Amino acid sequence: MTETKTRENRPSKTRSGVIGRPIDRIDGPLKVTGGATYAYENALDGTAYGYILGAAVAKGRIAEIDTAEAERAPAVLLVMTHRNAPAQPDFGPAVTPTVPEVFTRARPALNSERVRYYDEPVALVVAETFEAARAAAGLIKVRYDEEPGLYDLPGHMADAYAPKRTNAGFETDSVIGDFEGAFAAAPVKIDATYRTPFEHHNPMEPHATLAAWSGNELTIHTSAQTLANFRAGVASTLGIPPERVRIVSPFIGGGFGSKLIAHADTILAALAAQVLQRPVKIALTRQQMFANAGHRAEMIQQVRLGADTDGRLTGIAHDVWSATSSFEEYCEQTAVFARSLYAAPNRVTRHRLVPLDINRGEWMRSPGEAPGMLAFECAMDELAERLGLDPIELRIRNEPAQDPERGVPFSTRNLVACMKEGARRFGWERRNPTPGRAREGRKLIGCGMAAAIRPNYIGAATARVAIDRDGRVTARLDMTDIGTGTYTILTQIAADSLGLPISSIKVELGDSRFPRTAGSGGSWGAASAGSALYNACNALKERILEAAQSSEASPLRGANATEASFADGEVSVGQRSASLADLVRRIAPGGFEAEGSVAAGAATQSYKAYSQHSNGAHFAEVAVDCDTGEIRMRRMLAVMGAGRILNPKTARSQIIGGMTWGIGAALMEQTVLDRRYGHFVNHDLAEYHVPINGDVPEMEVVFLEEHDDKANPFGAKGIGELGVCGAGAAVANAIYNATGVRVRDFPITLDKLL
Ligand code: MOS
Repeated sequence: MTETKTRENRPSKTRSGVIGRPIDRIDGPLKVTGGATYAYENALDGTAYGYILGAAVAKGRIAEIDTAEAERAPAVLLVMTHRNAPAQPDFGPAVTPTVPEVFTRARPALNSERVRYYDEPVALVVAETFEAARAAAGLIKVRYDEEPGLYDLPGHMADAYAPKRTNAGFETDSVIGDFEGAFAAAPVKIDATYRTPFEHHNPMEPHATLAAWSGNELTIHTSAQTLANFRAGVASTLGIPPERVRIVSPFIGGGFGSKLIAHADTILAALAAQVLQRPVKIALTRQQMFANAGHRAEMIQQVRLGADTDGRLTGIAHDVWSATSSFEEYCEQTAVFARSLYAAPNRVTRHRLVPLDINRGEWMRSPGEAPGMLAFECAMDELAERLGLDPIELRIRNEPAQDPERGVPFSTRNLVACMKEGARRFGWERRNPTPGRAREGRKLIGCGMAAAIRPNYIGAATARVAIDRDGRVTARLDMTDIGTGTYTILTQIAADSLGLPISSIKVELGDSRFPRTAGSGGSWGAASAGSALYNACNALKERILEAAQSSEASPLRGANATEASFADGEVSVGQRSASLADLVRRIAPGGFEAEGSVAAGAATQSYKAYSQHSNGAHFAEVAVDCDTGEIRMRRMLAVMGAGRILNPKTARSQIIGGMTWGIGAALMEQTVLDRRYGHFVNHDLAEYHVPINGDVPEMEVVFLEEHDDKANPFGAKGIGELGVCGAGAAVANAIYNATGVRVRDFPITLDKLL
């Protein structure tokens, strides 16, 4: 990998200047020395091991299940099926009305003889060892009454319906003006249909849970992005109050959306631990994750663009048909970004679902933009070519003055600046716009670009912060670090706010006993948890100053606290100053504690009055072998405008991770659903292809200087998913530029180029 050039960010307002520095990960040494304990590594006395047996059909009923031999197998403690599993509430609404139902509803396991999707759990074996449990599971005999199911999205488009429940909180459709009329009248138009396949997230750490009961209190060690969702979901499914469930998840080996909610490993571990009165540990195998931990659904997208001969869009239509589960609707917000990206007076976006006999889809990194921009930003490339216009110039001509559908200003928007800076750095002017003209020997060389947009969210969060008599600060919140660098940036925020070195700050995350946050997801983690912590630090400073003014032992007694500053380990008021630790020791030997909160963004004035997004521009260069069609990535560049960058090192890692996902979506990732039997055929990492180091080219990431004062107190915006948005389209457009072959059926494998 290459060096990242990151522009200097706006200096911090305090003297410590910790924010904006490329600090190494606080948790890095723990992770590389084995000091970070992951869910399945937790050891409790008497732990038993579970293994889940999945259904061998995709739709039907269990007619007969013979567990006798498994029960007699060595070291087996329990064989649980629908016949003896503890009663659970029906699949249905949540017990916690404050969290959206999708995150918290009861999702019972082993509670029915019905089979709703292939590899759905039909039995759990618990034994003294994992190996004994797995061996015994192989002895269970199941006879199914199989029923014909639907597995074919393209074949059942006639069954499509508008989402009944939710489109991730967005309107299902948006209609402005008269698209059909504008499109019919447009002198230049594109009408293109793109297909994207089922995709699966594969965090390095699979879904895993250790569940232990103590009386009627349940403790769950698991790998979770959002503890509050797990807590509520487990409580709903077990029919107990959430207060009796504790979720612990301090270290997480990756989370891309599938760890937003609890899955069968968690539910079954809790049930088995209850039955056996012993701790029970269950992990989904890599293969089981493909059926039991969500997926990105297969989609068909039609993009229609009408333009005048100058390249001004007169109409935009983005129609999406997506597979969904017949028993639990999930709609990815695939066309929602198109509502904010380009100006056009006539516009339509629509989402439709086709129910199949598969497990529910779930959030997968950049839900919406990842598949949506892959299609839409290729369509923009197609339009640019038809117009004979440079793709960047086309986008500049359609840059909106304000959010084109909401009619409110953007809080910040540097899309044009990102494209221009990217073009300059990438050498865009050297690109030959005529496809197939750039050759190096037997290689066809091509360059492509695409825009990036990703909404900036903020979720409700609270943080607690304490300072002790030695000046050591502890911050606690139920936030998670899914590998993104949360421990590090929260440490920076607290250090910056309190004017202390980062070595004085300890951030503790991943325990539902700590104040509740929105967790990690939707790229809202830094803003939500960071704002809560920022406010908690301010509250702590107020407490300290209050006492410092009034306490007899205080060197700052009687000082005017409105002039106070915290920097370099000292509190200064006017000409007087004292070391923070010394001050606390003198005025409050027990230390101070304070809490701070932030409200969900959607409810706030700044979100109502401004359209908040991160933006960027992706550039890619590819080489395609003209004999074999082999595609190699050569270099990529992303120029991002994403608010203030808290830590350029962790931020860069987020963006290059996202760009790598873009390569995967464009070239490799695809889970093949057997349309006869309803199972995912390539359900392991040998056959589900993701880019590895050798597939990833030189990547450069540039952050433009930005500070979004509408977003949060420190001016940052979400970046976790921004890197994916449009990255795949830049690759696809580069392949077109290299070859003149436009593949609209992703991934672009070499056979489709020949
Ligand atoms: Mo992300 S798909 O919101 O974890």
